[in-house]
Amino acid sequence: MRHISLCMPRDCDYNGALSLVTHTRTSPVRIGPHQLKNNLVVAPMAGVTDRPFRQLCKTMGAGMAVSEMVASNSLLWGSEKTKRRANHDGEVDPISVQIAGADPQMLADAARYNVDQGAQIIDINMGCPAKKICNVMAGSALLKDEPLVARILKAVVGAVGVPVTLKIRTGWDRDHRNALMVARIAESSGIQALAIHGRTRACGYSGEAEYDTIAAVKAEIRIPVIANGDITTPERVKQVLEYTKADAVMIGRAAQGRPWMFREISHFLETGRHLPPPAVGEIHRVLVAHLHDLYDFYGELTGVRVARKHISWYTKGLAGSAAFRHGMNQLQTCAEQIRAVDDYFAELSGLGERLIYVEEPGMMNKPERMEEPAELAA
Ligand SMILES: Cc1cc2nc3c(=O)[nH]c(=O)nc-3n(C[C@H](O)[C@H](O)[C@H](O)COP(=O)(O)O)c2cc1C
Repeated sequence: MRHISLCMPRDCDYNGALSLVTHTRTSPVRIGPHQLKNNLVVAPMAGVTDRPFRQLCKTMGAGMAVSEMVASNSLLWGSEKTKRRANHDGEVDPISVQIAGADPQMLADAARYNVDQGAQIIDINMGCPAKKICNVMAGSALLKDEPLVARILKAVVGAVGVPVTLKIRTGWDRDHRNALMVARIAESSGIQALAIHGRTRACGYSGEAEYDTIAAVKAEIRIPVIANGDITTPERVKQVLEYTKADAVMIGRAAQGRPWMFREISHFLETGRHLPPPAVGEIHRVLVAHLHDLYDFYGELTGVRVARKHISWYTKGLAGSAAFRHGMNQLQTCAEQIRAVDDYFAELSGLGERLIYVEEPGMMNKPERMEEPAELAA
C-alpha cells in the first residue's frame, strides 16, 4: 500500500516570499441543491460537532459540518441528548445530520424525523468503528453485509426529499476492502455524496489512513467523493486532493480546538501561501464566544464539562498551557472558567501578538493522540 509522501517543496512563510508550490484549483462541491462555498467539510464527531462547534467552523471557513450522529431508535428521540442533537436553531446552511442504526425502516423514520427538525442533508453512518455501535451491526459493521447496505440506502433515500449522503470506511478489514462495491451500491441507490475514511473498521484509529482506495473509488463513481482520515495541515489537504482527485476533504480531529484551520486551508489552496498564525486577541475572543455558546446550549453544569474539553484543545501546545489546563479541571462554574481563560490569554498576549505553539501546530491533533471517543467506547 502506497502512502503519500510528506516531502513537499518547502512553501513560503507568511512573510510573503515567493511560493514554490502551485495553487490547487478546486471547485466547490455541490450536494444535491446545496452549493457549498468550498470543498472543506467538518467530520461528524460525537461529543464534538455539536451545534456551537459546527457553527463556529462554518463561520471560520468550513463549507459544511456534519452533526454528531443521532440514533435511529425512536425511543431515544425524547432524550435530552437527542433533542439537543436535533436542534439547529440559527445554524448556517446546509444543515447535515448524521443518523446511525442498522434497521432500514428505523433509519428511514429517523431520516424523516430529522428532516422535520430542520435537516437539509441526511448522512448515514457506516464509518464508525465504536464497539457500542458495531455490536448492534451499525456503523462500519454494516459494510460486512452489502445486501443490507443496499436495503438501508434505498429505504432512507426513498423516505426523504433531501439529499442523502453516506460515510464509510474502506472496508471491514484489510482482507475485505469493499469500499468500491459499497460505493457502486451507494451511487445506484441515489446517494448524493460519499465520504470515505481511509481506514478499515478493524484498523480503528491505528496506523495511517491510506488514500489508494479513495482514489480507486473516485475513479469509478460520478457522485462527489469526500476524502477523510489524518488530514491535519493545508499541505496535507492539497496532497490528498491531488492524489485521490476527491471532490472534497473531511477533517475531524485536526479541527478540534482549531476551527480557524478551515480559513487557513482555503487561503493555502487559493494562493499557495500560509496565513500568519492567528492573533492572540482574536483567538481569545473566539474561544470566549464559543464558551458562552456552549453554556447557553448545554446549561451551566454540562456546559462547563463540555467546555473543558474544548479549552484543552484550544490551548494544547501553547506556552504554559499544561498548568493552565490542570487548574481548569478544578473549576466548576462558567464565571470561573471565563476568568481563568481571560487570565491565561492576558499572559499569552504578553509573549507576543500571535499564537506561538511550543509544538508544531500541524502535529497537534495527530492521530495517535486520539482515542476512540469515550462516549462511544463500549
Ligand atoms: C471524538 C470522535 C467522535 C467521532 N464520532 C463519529 C460519529 O459520530 N460518526 C462518524 O461517522 N464518525 C465519527 N468519528 C470519525 C470521524 O468522523 C472521522 O472519520 C475520523 O476521526 C477520521 O478523520 P480525522 O483523521 O480527520 O479525525 C468520530 C471521531 C472522533 C475522533
